[in-house]
Amino acid sequence: MNRPLVALAAGQPEVEQALDELNRQLHLPRVLPGGGDSELLLVLTSERLELRQNGVAGQGPVFVDFVSGRLAHRRLYGDGRAQPLARAIGLKKGRNPQVLDATAGLGRDAFVLATLGCELVMLERSPVIAALLRNGLERALADDQTAQVVRRMQLHCGDAIDYLNGLDHSQKPQVIYMDPMYPHRKKSALVKKEMRLFRRLVGEDADSAELLSAARRHARHRVVVKRPAGAAWVGDEKPAMEIKSPNTRYDVYVNSGLGS
Ligand SMILES: C[S@@+](CC[C@H](N)C(=O)[O-])C[C@H]1O[C@@H](n2cnc3c(N)ncnc32)[C@H](O)[C@@H]1O
Repeated sequence: MNRPLVALAAGQPEVEQALDELNRQLHLPRVLPGGGDSELLLVLTSERLELRQNGVAGQGPVFVDFVSGRLAHRRLYGDGRAQPLARAIGLKKGRNPQVLDATAGLGRDAFVLATLGCELVMLERSPVIAALLRNGLERALADDQTAQVVRRMQLHCGDAIDYLNGLDHSQKPQVIYMDPMYPHRKKSALVKKEMRLFRRLVGEDADSAELLSAARRHARHRVVVKRPAGAAWVGDEKPAMEIKSPNTRYDVYVNSGLGS
């Protein structure tokens, strides 16, 4: 029999009921913590939901944390509207476009934009990643400092291409943002733990050119694509503008102006 990719475990006995509820959406095999032969373990502890590499010592878990750590620091001390992501989306003083984040992942970019005042609809098609993100949003809602930020972030688990194709004209998002999985890097030791786990779960996002076409058809004002510096344009489509930082490039496809 094939080894399952992900199994679900309870970190403590008191979370069993919450785990049953979670598994009504995920339908994963249930194992004891550290048990089973799946490659990855999604573990609900009394503190949070986290993804672990099963049976690999010394690998920290992956989880979403908007309250403390790097994202909290960025919320308090980040470069605000001057940062390349905010410029690419088109934020200006008094102008916070509504953004559809078509590739939500762990919600970092969305959180940065919500911190700056944008309202976001986020789509994530991997049910496991969406569950990690939903858990992070719930914990942030319970914290006074972050609750008002994450109230601007709405998550749907599903495919963004289907979602966009189901929208009618009146529902067009002002800006569509996408950050598909990066092309595979040869030096795998350089790829962060998190990205390795992501790659096992979601693969390479081979349909990102199709997503870009759908996004360009449905965005009211612009589509922004995040790429590694030096990477090819998605679908070989030339953007109207590129905004660069040392490691990252934002390709901006313009349908109409955002106004002043
Ligand atoms: C590189 S990650 C995004 C990281 C995210 N920007 C962040 O800040 O955490 C790409 C994610 O997009 C998701 N994805 C790719 N194509 C998608 C689609 N068509 N619809 C929904 N999710 C998609 C993948 O499942 C993956 O979780």
